[in-house]
Amino acid sequence: MARRILLIIGGGIAAYKSLDLIRRLRERGYGVRVVLTRAAQEFVTPLAAGALSNDRVFTDLFDLDDEREIGHIRLSRDADLLVVAPATADLLAKMATGQASDLACAVLLATDKPVLVAPAMNPRMWAHPATCRNMRQLETDGVKFIGPNKGEMAERGEAGTGRMSEPTEIADAVDRLLGGDASAMKKAGLLSGRRVVVTSGPTHEPIDPVRYIANRSSGKQGHAIAAAAAVLGAQVTLVSGPVSLPPPEGVETITVETAEDMLAAVRRALPADIAIFAAAVADWRVAAAADQKLKKTKSNSAQTLALVENPDILKTIAAAGPKRPALVIGFAAETENVVAHAQKKRKDKGADWIVANDVSPETGTFGGDRNTVHLVTARDIEGWPPQTKEEVARRLVTRAAEYLQENQIDV
Ligand code: PMT
Repeated sequence: MARRILLIIGGGIAAYKSLDLIRRLRERGYGVRVVLTRAAQEFVTPLAAGALSNDRVFTDLFDLDDEREIGHIRLSRDADLLVVAPATADLLAKMATGQASDLACAVLLATDKPVLVAPAMNPRMWAHPATCRNMRQLETDGVKFIGPNKGEMAERGEAGTGRMSEPTEIADAVDRLLGGDASAMKKAGLLSGRRVVVTSGPTHEPIDPVRYIANRSSGKQGHAIAAAAAVLGAQVTLVSGPVSLPPPEGVETITVETAEDMLAAVRRALPADIAIFAAAVADWRVAAAADQKLKKTKSNSAQTLALVENPDILKTIAAAGPKRPALVIGFAAETENVVAHAQKKRKDKGADWIVANDVSPETGTFGGDRNTVHLVTARDIEGWPPQTKEEVARRLVTRAAEYLQENQIDV
C-alpha cells in the first residue's frame, strides 16, 4: 500500500505550486488526497487538484455526503502524514489556537498523525510577533516546518522571507519524515510485474585497438531512469555503453562497447513492457577498424576514416513486431529547434514518446546533473521545468507506469 499524504492547501498565491507538489509526491509513490480551504479555491480549482491527485477533493466540513462516506475524523486518520502547503498566517493562527471552524482546521485538530507545514506569506506578516508566537506554539505542539524561503514576493517590489518552499523541497521533507522515498515508491509498486529495458551512456566505435569514436554522455540520465524503474518495482535490464558510474541497485546491468553490441543486448533483453533509449549511440562506425595500432605515415599527411552507418537501435525495436514493447520511449539530443526536431524524430523512428533535451554546450546536459526536457507524444508537447536527472527519471517512469495502467496493458 502506498503511503498516504493528506495535503491541505491554504489560500495564498503559492497555492498554484501545490498542484506541482501533488505531482511530485505521486511521482515518489505517495497516494495524495487533497483538502482545499475556501480561500484556496480562489487560486486553484477542486477539478485541477482532483485530476492531479486522481482522487476526490474535500472542501466542506458540513458536506453531509463527505461526513457520511468518510467523515473528517477518518479523513485525518487515514493519512500517514498531513502536509499544509501553503500555510497562510491565518491558517497558522487557527492551528495554534486549536480552532475547528472549517474542514482544514477540524482535520488538523482531529489528527493523531505527524503534520508538516510549509508557510507562505508576506515577509512582514511572517515577522509579526503574533505569527512568531503562533510558530513557537506549533513547534511546542510537535508540528514540523519546511521554509519559508527568502526571495521575491508576488506583490511588486516586495522581497524577504515568506516564499513557500519549492515542491521538491517539500517532497524531500516528506521523504525524510516518512523514512525515504525509495521505500514509499517500492510500496506503491507501480511497475511491479513489468519488464523495462533502458539504454544508457555513449558507445565506443573502434578505430584501432587503442582509439575509438565516442561522445560526452556520462550515463547519468539513463542510469537514473533504470534506478527509478527498479524502485517502482520493475524488473529492469540496463544496457550501458562504457561509463564510470556504478550499476544501479536492483538492476541487471549489461555493459557493451559498440552500437551493434548494444542492439544485440537489447534484443536479448526483450520482451519488455517499456523500452527507454537514453543512450547516445554513435550514428557511424569506422568501416574497417584496424587490427593493429595505426601508425603515422612518413609524409604525415592527413588521414581519412571511412565511416558506415550504425544500426538505429530505437528504430529497430520500435518497428511493429511480436516483441515490440507496449511503450517505446526515445530521447532526442538537439542543439536547435529542439521540439520541432524531436517531433520529427518521434515519427521517423516510430517511438511512442520522445524526451527532447537541449544539449547545447551552455546547458551542460551532457555529463551534467540536470536536464531540461520536453515530453513529446502523439497528442501533446509538455515542457518540464529544469530539474535533476533523477527527477526527470522519476517523472518519466511514473508517467510510463500510468500510461500502461490507463491503456489497460496487462502485466
Ligand atoms: O548520459 P548523460 O551525460 O546523462 O546525458 C544524457 C543524454 C544527453 C545523453 C540523454 O539525455 C540523451 O539525450 N540521449 C539521447 C542521445 C542521442 O543520441 O540522441 P539522438 O537525437 O542522436 O538519437 C535519438 C534517439 O535514437 C535516442 O533515443 C538514441 O538513443 C536513439 N539512437 C540513436 C542512434 C542509433 N544508432 N541508435 C539509437 O537507438
